[in-house]
Amino acid sequence: MRKLFFAAVLLISMASRAVADEGMWLPLLLGKQVYDDMVKKGLKLTKEQLYQINKPSLKDAIIIFGGGCTGEIVSSKGLIFTNHHCGYDAIASASSVEKNYLRDGFYAKTTTEEIQTSLSVQFLLRIDDVTKEVMDSLQGLTGTERLQKQAAVLAVINKRLSNAAESIETRVSSLFKGNQFLAFVYQRYSDIRLVGTPPESVGKFGGDTDNWVWPRHTGDFSVFRIYAGKDNKPAAYSPDNVPYTPLHYLPISFQNRQEGDFTMVYGFPGQTEQHVVSSYLKFIIEKERPARIHMRDLSLAVIDEGMKNSDLTRIQYSAKQASIANAWKKWIGQIEGLKNLQAVQLKLEEEKAYKDMALSKPEWKKYAEVVNQLNTLVEKDQQIEFKYAMGAEYFSYGPEYFKLVRGMEDLVTNYTKYAENGELAKVIEKMKTSAEGFFKNYNSDVDLHIFMDQTKAYLDYNEQWKEITKDVKYSVANEWFVNYVNGIATDIYSHSIFTNQERYMAFLSSFSDKSIKKLNKDLGYTHFYQYFQSFRNETVPAYRSFQTSVNNLMQVYVEGKYTMFPDKKHWPDANSTLRITYGQLEGSAPTDGMRYTEHTTLDGIIAKYNTGNPDFDLLPRMVELHAAKNYGPYAQGDELWVCFTGSNHTTGGNSGSPVLDKNGYLMGLNFDRSWESTMSDYLFDPNRCRNIVVDIRYVLWVMDIYSDAKHLVDEMTLMKE
Ligand code: ARG
Ligand code: GLU
Repeated sequence: MRKLFFAAVLLISMASRAVADEGMWLPLLLGKQVYDDMVKKGLKLTKEQLYQINKPSLKDAIIIFGGGCTGEIVSSKGLIFTNHHCGYDAIASASSVEKNYLRDGFYAKTTTEEIQTSLSVQFLLRIDDVTKEVMDSLQGLTGTERLQKQAAVLAVINKRLSNAAESIETRVSSLFKGNQFLAFVYQRYSDIRLVGTPPESVGKFGGDTDNWVWPRHTGDFSVFRIYAGKDNKPAAYSPDNVPYTPLHYLPISFQNRQEGDFTMVYGFPGQTEQHVVSSYLKFIIEKERPARIHMRDLSLAVIDEGMKNSDLTRIQYSAKQASIANAWKKWIGQIEGLKNLQAVQLKLEEEKAYKDMALSKPEWKKYAEVVNQLNTLVEKDQQIEFKYAMGAEYFSYGPEYFKLVRGMEDLVTNYTKYAENGELAKVIEKMKTSAEGFFKNYNSDVDLHIFMDQTKAYLDYNEQWKEITKDVKYSVANEWFVNYVNGIATDIYSHSIFTNQERYMAFLSSFSDKSIKKLNKDLGYTHFYQYFQSFRNETVPAYRSFQTSVNNLMQVYVEGKYTMFPDKKHWPDANSTLRITYGQLEGSAPTDGMRYTEHTTLDGIIAKYNTGNPDFDLLPRMVELHAAKNYGPYAQGDELWVCFTGSNHTTGGNSGSPVLDKNGYLMGLNFDRSWESTMSDYLFDPNRCRNIVVDIRYVLWVMDIYSDAKHLVDEMTLMKE
């Protein structure tokens, strides 16, 4: 009796823990099972309120912001929120020494003060299922032929469903690894203006120290507005344009919150890889990620040292450093998390269950085979992907002068054409302008040391150093190799035209048909091509073909998952299309003996400030408002919430995404994941995986009380019930 009772209690408590689920769901395909589960966990909206195409719904307030972020509309006058790190470039461009908006923040007092940017946003108009059309045209095709045909068919559909005059752009996306095809029809608005931003000491509070980490206190938000023509349609920038009137905008969730509250995130997650096989996971954990991390360790060590020693270098390199460090830090968290989770073992078990099931019916035999085929292929060809990854690191994130060399390619290739059609002067002028920007943020000493360290590592990882040292006695080969690379480096950084602004500009100014000969004698130039040619001509095509083979097998593998396990919840990997993910406001227990609470407060900001780490610098106003406890109507009890975590499955691209409550009201902006959850791109662990959100009440407090921009808060609709 007693035993039974305990079992029942256990069951109930397990159920009421309402464990978060993995999954990034397409609003169009929100199956009954998933929708019912959302309702069970608290959602009060109908499916149609989430997404429908002929009447306004929540989706009309969600936009693709710029290149890779999400934004949302929060007023009837086209006001939008996104993250500070998503608006960063626009804010930096609008800033100058006199008007340093990055440092001081900025708020337009009237719409005329709002600042033109080069950003655009995209609305999703509708999603059409074009699976049948695509599949019909692929009948009987396999391998490369199939992929080529697929690309051609998608291009035809994209064109048919687009309309340049109305700024309508369609992109068909493959889902479930080529088992389903949906056409996403977007409309682009290109007059986007900067309305406001907090200072970096709020918007980037915690900097790299806190990046990917909980507890967090970053006010990662910025404010923009969409402008349209008088007819509310997309229009190029014009002073005559008017604020856009949206179909729907998000009311603000202005209520007390508590752990367990329903949350959902609506946005455009970039990429997840839930289906990778065990051997691939082993490859990235043991080989690929550690090597990529090491390549970045090398450049970050040089950059960090330079930034420590010089204010100028710090300004020149802070954005570059942040971008190199962001993925670097995520990868470290990822492999640590995957190891802790024994992810390879879990995958092996999953593969075994899959194969056992496949062998239970003759018509499923192909599924059993495909798992082995995938693993065999990865084991055979992983070296290709490894070389590709090393090339990506070295050529795109390594020595910076490589960018200038690549930028020279067009001129070298088309010199005769430009000389004949009279465009030469213009082309050269353009290159000079962009070189000015390049050298403004360039320190050749920093680059020299990155070159020395990364070139050695690159040649080593590529096993090219053995080739280089083959005539040298083994006992001194290493020392010889180091001297060899340092010698090249010294030569390049003291003589090459690509490592010095005067040399480069002079070279361009006197560019003639003799210049190409001169390039071929420039060691900076020849060094780059000596290794880049084989990367571009051999490694990249080999990698693409490896990818094609993997994708072909993946299609069958994933088909097997939902054919043989129809009761499991299947979600298509993220691919920058609109998704809903849901969970709850929830803390976590990331490791044994440790517990993260679900929210942080202004007190925590002050505590971090007092550590003296420059990533936690504040302007005096923050300290004063905190001392006065001037929280206005934005407090909960006597606390001002700053950030909270949720058990929502998110990834890169979800930055700026609205985190919504059960009524579809805006609770905050998604901007990160905690350290222990970065592995969720491969494997989601409901006990640990948490997204990090800046509470909208803190955002409004910063706008209203900290920055005196209440007029913007007044534009929004605050829901107190
Ligand atoms: N980790 C977040 C993302 O992947 C935030 C990055 C920006 N913040 C930073 N400190 N670098 O984009
Ligand atoms: N900061 C990320 C972004 O820019 C979101 C964090 C994540 O990867 O979950 O999209």
